Amino acid sequence: MQVLWQHVPSPIQEFRHPLLDARGLSCVIKRDDLLQLEFQAGDQAFCGNKWRKLKYNLLEARNQGCTALLTFGGAYSNHIAATASAGKLFGFDTIAIIRGEAAQILNPTLQFAQECGMALHYWSREQYRSKAEPDVLAKLQKQYPQAYILPEGGSNALALRGCAELAEEILAQVPVDYLCVSCGTGGTLAGLVQGLAGRAAAWGFSALKGDFHQDVVREMIAPKNWPNWDTVTDYHFGGYAKTPVELLDFMAEMEACDLPLEPIYTAKLMYGVLDIAKKGRFPAGSRICVVHTGGLQGWKGKK
Ligand SMILES: Cc1ncc(COP(=O)(O)O)c(C=O)c1O
Repeated sequence: MQVLWQHVPSPIQEFRHPLLDARGLSCVIKRDDLLQLEFQAGDQAFCGNKWRKLKYNLLEARNQGCTALLTFGGAYSNHIAATASAGKLFGFDTIAIIRGEAAQILNPTLQFAQECGMALHYWSREQYRSKAEPDVLAKLQKQYPQAYILPEGGSNALALRGCAELAEEILAQVPVDYLCVSCGTGGTLAGLVQGLAGRAAAWGFSALKGDFHQDVVREMIAPKNWPNWDTVTDYHFGGYAKTPVELLDFMAEMEACDLPLEPIYTAKLMYGVLDIAKKGRFPAGSRICVVHTGGLQGWKGKK
């Protein structure tokens, strides 16, 4: 197997904005979307938090002698695309359980997954809700004995370990007071909280409606009760995958500042960071680092 983790640290990009200057704040973007493994050849699906979350899982799959990866996701899931890509790169078969009915024409995310060799199976929304139940997982494992099963979004203990390394990587590159990241399942935030171990604050900006991330993340990092983290729930823009014009306009503004974002996660995050700065929630002089978790290939698909 090729060496899995050889890559240089993903770059840090300085980010200037009048709103930040007015409050005496400095800001950098951790461009983890630009993370490239040596042999990856420009594959945009397998970067950012996807790589961080899959890295130790791929090793574990290999250690267990599994020859396939099986996971779950929606039709536009970046995690599905990343798992398909990882399977192709590292020689695993890949199987996906997709939420909802099959569309007549595959969207670009699923088309990409299929081109990577992933087998796609569709579960009704009702059936999909049972995806984490032990008896359902046991049945799947029996059906695919060679498969290493990853939860939706890939967020398990090994994923947190990879994200904790991201925190270390950032702290070695720049001084940080506030590390800001987008939250879907909350796994990336939980891993960053573990990695920071209180050395900087971690704020998770939810891409979904609701304030469930507090409980979810607390559970993921248990039994340790790491201090210095919080969730921000005001920037979901109407809910998961909602893309109002205001958000699209903001993305165009950021693109002009040399910061390409996508509307599901990272644009909401960046909008939230600037709005919170405007409202004075970061003390003057704070050093903010925003994590760009990738997902740009999914946006191309949705566009
Ligand atoms: C680009 C991007 N950013 C952030 C997230 C949220 O990560 P998590 O599910 O670990 O909270 C995701 C989810 O997969 C994502 O695709």
